[in-house]
Amino acid sequence: MRLVVGVSGGSGIPYALNVLQALQQLDVQTELVVSSGAKRVMAAESGPQLADLTALAAHVHDDRDLGASISSGSYRTDGMLVVPCSAGTLARIAGGFADNLLSRAAHVTLKERRRLVLALREDPLPRPMLENMLRAHDAGATVMSASPGFYHAPQSIEELLHFVTVRLLDQFGLDVPGFRRWDGA
Ligand SMILES: Cc1cc2nc3c(=O)[nH]c(=O)nc-3n(C[C@H](O)[C@H](O)[C@H](O)COP(=O)(O)O)c2cc1C
Repeated sequence: MRLVVGVSGGSGIPYALNVLQALQQLDVQTELVVSSGAKRVMAAESGPQLADLTALAAHVHDDRDLGASISSGSYRTDGMLVVPCSAGTLARIAGGFADNLLSRAAHVTLKERRRLVLALREDPLPRPMLENMLRAHDAGATVMSASPGFYHAPQSIEELLHFVTVRLLDQFGLDVPGFRRWDGA
């Protein structure tokens, strides 16, 4: 399986790291593209840095390289995940703009009718963003939020990150090991 992972400038780069770790564990080939907004956020969060993310990806693409493999629908992938997805990247995707590689790859994912999952991170949600969420949904994307549940009684931040990763990768039919699913008990 091959997935594109887009990392944009929403707060929460640790979500991206956790997803990439899980995908590596699951032997999924990842095509990573990190926006300049995400690089700015990384510097501020002083958590995982670019090298931590790129070390986990099969291929790393420059967000300015609109000639990269993932900019074409003829390059086969099984879908794309944007984590975290900023309000700006959501707007580009919802509006059909393809002016950086991340938004181009998302556009390609939609046009090829492959699965596109957006893990949004913003609060509160202004009307333009709510409208963009609906637009992206209607265009075929799965709109999610980077907000963990608590019904699995998490004991650490790692477990909260893991919860979000599990739910995001569920959308691709991937079963991340080590998560106790709700069984009604
Ligand atoms: C420290 C920091 C945190 C940010 N957090 C968010 C956020 O949670 N959600 C969001 O939509 N934008 C956030 N932004 C703003 C975006 O990074 C900014 O709008 C950027 O242009 C997005 O570009 P991109 O979508 O191409 O990555 C943050 C910016 C900084 C510097």
